[in-house]
Amino acid sequence: MNGRVLHVVGTRPNFVKAAPVVAALRATGHDQVLVHTGQHYDERMSHIFFRELGLPAPDTDLGVGSGSHARQTADLLVALEGELLARAPALVVVYGDVNSTLAAALVAAKLGIPVAHVEAGLRSFDMAMPEEVNRRLVDQLAELLFVTSPEAVGHLAREGVDPGRVHFVGNPMIDTLLTHLEHFDPAVARAAHALPERYGVVTLHRPANVDDPEAAAAAARALTEAAGHLDLAVPLHPRGREALRRAGLADAPGIHLLEPLGYVEFMGLVRGAAVVITDSGGVQEETTVLGVPCLTLRTTTERPVTVTHGTNRLVRHGELVPALRKVLDGQTAADPEGPPLWDGKAGPRIARVLTEWLERHDHRVAGAP
Ligand code: UD1
Ligand code: UDP
Repeated sequence: MNGRVLHVVGTRPNFVKAAPVVAALRATGHDQVLVHTGQHYDERMSHIFFRELGLPAPDTDLGVGSGSHARQTADLLVALEGELLARAPALVVVYGDVNSTLAAALVAAKLGIPVAHVEAGLRSFDMAMPEEVNRRLVDQLAELLFVTSPEAVGHLAREGVDPGRVHFVGNPMIDTLLTHLEHFDPAVARAAHALPERYGVVTLHRPANVDDPEAAAAAARALTEAAGHLDLAVPLHPRGREALRRAGLADAPGIHLLEPLGYVEFMGLVRGAAVVITDSGGVQEETTVLGVPCLTLRTTTERPVTVTHGTNRLVRHGELVPALRKVLDGQTAADPEGPPLWDGKAGPRIARVLTEWLERHDHRVAGAP
C-alpha cells in the first residue's frame, strides 16, 4: 500500500480543479485526505461546489477565513502545519495560485513532505498580481509539476525547474466541465433570472479591476455602456460587490446584479451567453471549450492558449464596447481548434503520475506494517 495523499483546497477555483483528481485517485482506492483551509467559506463560494461537483466532505475545515495577505497567509501556515503533522501524508497536492496554495506548499516543503502542483507554470509576468507571486514560489517548491498548456513547460525550464518533474497532463478544470456538461441548461438558468434570449455574462473580482476606486469606476462605466447593447447577468464575487456598487454599477435596465452562482447554474448561463466579459482565470478557459466569445478585462493573461487556440481576447475598459459590438455582429474567429489535451482526462493522468511516483518512492501509510 502506498502513502497517503493530502489535497489542500481553499477557494472556488480550487474546488473545480481538485474534483477530478480526487475522483480519479478514489477510483484506484488510494488513501487520501481532503483539507479545506476555509479561505472561501460562504455557502455560495464553497459548500455548494462540494455538493455539485461530487467532492467528498472535507476531512477537516481549518476555518482560516479572510484577512490581509500577511494575516491570511500567516493563519494558513499555522493551521496547515498542525494538520500536516497530524495527518502525516506522503505527498501534498496543491491547486492553482491562491494564498492557500502557497501556504500549503511552503508548510509541506519545510516539513520535508513532497508537493505536487496542479496547474504549474502559468505566468502573466505581472508581479503586481498576488497570484503571480504565489505561482512562482509554489513552482520552486514542488517536486511534481502538472502543466495545463505547452508554454508552461518553457516557463518552468527558464526558471531552472528540472524538466523530469514536469508533466503535461491537460486541464482538470475542463474535466469538471465535460463531466457536468449535460446539466448546463441555458434555458433553465435564463428563466431563473428573467433574462432575454440574447444576453451576456460578467464576472469581475481581480484587485486590479475592483479594489482601486478609479479602476472600479472605469469598469462600472464600461459595463453600464455595454448593457445598452446587451442584457448582462453579473454574478458578483464578494470582493467586487461593494466597490462596483459604490462605483455606480447598479441594477438598471440591462444590468442584472446576482449573488455568486453555483457551478451548474453559472455554467448554464455561460453556455447560452452571446459573450462573456470577465477577469477570471477559469472562465477564460471554460469559454474557450464551450466556444463562447470571451472579452477579458485585463492587460495580461497567464492563459495565452485561450487567445491562440480559443475564443478569448484581452480588452481595456475603453475597448470593451467596440469589442462587444464586433462580437454581436458575428466578427469572431470561426471554430478555434482548442488547446491540446483539454479532453477531460487530466484527472486520471495526474492520478497515474502520482501513484507511480509514490510506488517509486515506496512511501507507506502511517501505521501500516
Ligand atoms: C481569491 C484568490 C484569487 C482567486 C479568487 C477566486 C488569493 C490571493 N486570491 O481571491 O486568486 O481568483 O480567490 O474566487 O488567494 N469573501 C466573502 N466570502 C467568502 C470569501 C471571501 O465575503 O466566502 C470576501 C471577504 O471580504 C474577503 C474578500 O472576499 O476579504 C476576498 O477574499 P480572498 O479569499 O482573500 O480573496 P479573493 O478575492 O476571493
Ligand atoms: N464560478 C461559479 N459561479 C460564479 C462564478 C464562477 O461557479 O458565480 C466558477 C467557474 O467555474 C469559474 C470558477 O468558479 O471558473 C473559478 O472562478 P473565479 O473567477 O472565482 O476564480 P479564478 O479562476 O479567477 O481564480
